[in-house]
Amino acid sequence: MLFSLTPSPEIQHLSLYSSENLNALLFVLPALFAGFKNYLPSPSKEQILCHRPRGLQCISPLVQSVEETPEPIPAKIKGHIPKWINGNLLRNGPGKFEFGNDKFNHWFDGMALLHQFQLAHGTVTYRSRFLQSSSYLRNSQHNRIVASEFGTLAMPDPCKSIFGRFLSRFEPIQPSDNCSVNYVLYKGDYYVSNENIFMHKVDPETLETKEKVDWSKFIAVNGATAHPHYESDGTTYNMGNSYGKHGSSYNIIRVPPQEPGHGDTLEGGRVVCSIPPMDRAKPSYYHSFGMTENYIIFIEQPLKLNLLKIITSKLCGKAIYDGINWEPQHNTYFHVVNKHTGEVLPGHWCSKPFVTFHQINAFEERGCVVLDLCCQDEGTSLALYTLQNLRRSGEGLDQVRSLTLLPQNPGQELLLCSKAGLDGMENVWCTHENLHPEGFEKVGGLEFPQINYSGYNGRRYRYFYGCGFGHLVGDSLIKVDVETKNFKVR
Ligand SMILES: [Fe+2]
Repeated sequence: MLFSLTPSPEIQHLSLYSSENLNALLFVLPALFAGFKNYLPSPSKEQILCHRPRGLQCISPLVQSVEETPEPIPAKIKGHIPKWINGNLLRNGPGKFEFGNDKFNHWFDGMALLHQFQLAHGTVTYRSRFLQSSSYLRNSQHNRIVASEFGTLAMPDPCKSIFGRFLSRFEPIQPSDNCSVNYVLYKGDYYVSNENIFMHKVDPETLETKEKVDWSKFIAVNGATAHPHYESDGTTYNMGNSYGKHGSSYNIIRVPPQEPGHGDTLEGGRVVCSIPPMDRAKPSYYHSFGMTENYIIFIEQPLKLNLLKIITSKLCGKAIYDGINWEPQHNTYFHVVNKHTGEVLPGHWCSKPFVTFHQINAFEERGCVVLDLCCQDEGTSLALYTLQNLRRSGEGLDQVRSLTLLPQNPGQELLLCSKAGLDGMENVWCTHENLHPEGFEKVGGLEFPQINYSGYNGRRYRYFYGCGFGHLVGDSLIKVDVETKNFKVR
C-alpha cells in the first residue's frame, strides 16, 4: 500500500466498552476509568527527534509516469540487510498518470503498478509490472482515458456524434478495476484490491495478472475494503457495502480458508452481519476496520458518500470524489459486532467527529475494547491529494502541506470514556488519549501504521511502525512505543 491515503496529525487510542449490557456498563465505568488511568502512562517527556522541514523539495518526480520493469534488476543497498531476511516485499500504487493528451486528476487515479522487492541472502532485486486491468487495457488501446476513476471523469468519445456524446452522459459510471490500493490475501492467494466490486488475482513471483474477480458473483456486496483482517487459520474478514431498494448497508464479510469443497476465489464467503447506516442515502466512507479476538469494530464517520451525487455525477460532469463530503455536524459512531455470532452489540458508542483511514490495532482488556487509530479532526484532506497539488513547488507546495498537516484541534488531553447515557439516547460518549507525546503534531503526522501482525493483531501490543509526514508525502520511518509513547524517527 505504497500510495494510499492521507497523512494524519493525530494518533489516538480509543476505549470502547464491549459490555453487552448498558446498565452494567454504567456501573463499571468509574472503576474502569480509574484502572485505565493507572494502565496508561503519562506522556513522555523525551525530546522528539525530528523537526518540521522548512522549504519543501519539489515532490513532482514522485507522481510522474514510469516504465514497468518486468525483469528483475539489482537494487543498490545502503547499509546492511541481515541474511536471514528472505522473501518478497510486495507493494502497489499508481504508476501512470496520463494516456495521450488526457491526464488523471487525483493521486488515486493512476494506473496500478505492482512492485516486488525480492530479498535473498542480503541482496535485493526489484521488478514491476502494470496490472492488466480492463481500465489499463482500454485506456492503452484508445490512447486516451476512457475509464473513469475516483477523481477523473472520462470524457465521451470525440468520434461519437453530438447526440451520442449527449446520451453517454446518462450512462452510469462503470466501476473501475484499476486495483491500485493494496495486496490482499484470500485462501492463500494474492489479489490486488481497490475498494469496489473487482479484484485481480496476481502471481506474487512474476507479478502477472491472473484473474479478474467480481465480488458480487460470490457474496451480496458491491465491493470490499483493501484492508481485510486475517486469522491464523486463513479466515479473512472484510467489510463492504451493498445497495438495494431501501438504500445502502454496511456488511461484515467472512471468507473461509482453503478447504475441501469450498473451491477457490471467494467461494464459501458469506455476510456475517449487515448494519444499516445512520442515513441510508449517505453511508459513510471507510477504508479499514478493527478486529479483536471476538469483535469487529466498525467506525461510521461523518465522511459521507452522497449516493445521489455519485449516481448523477456523470450527468453533472463531476468525478466520484465530488460526491464525498465531510459533514462534521454528525458525530462519529462505533459499531461493535460479535464476529462469531454476527450480533451487533446494543450500545451506541460515539465521539466527536473525526476521520480515520488506517486503524493500528484493537484488543480486549478488562471488559473494554481498545482501538488505536491514525485519525484527523478534519475530513477534507482527500481533496488536497490532486496531482495538481502534488506537483506544486516552492511556496505553493508549502501551502498545501500546511493545510494538510496542521490539526484543527491540537493537543487534546489524556481522557478516556468520560460519561455515558447523558443525552437520553443511551449513547456512550467516547473520548481518547493521544498516543503521541505532547507537541508531536507540530512536526507533522503519521500514517500507514504497521504492527507485527501475525503475532499481535487483536492482542495487546507495544510497538507499531508508520510513515512520518513532515511533508505532504511520507519522509521518515517512525517506531512508536504505545506504552511509553517514545518515538524513534529515521
Ligand atoms: Fe490504505
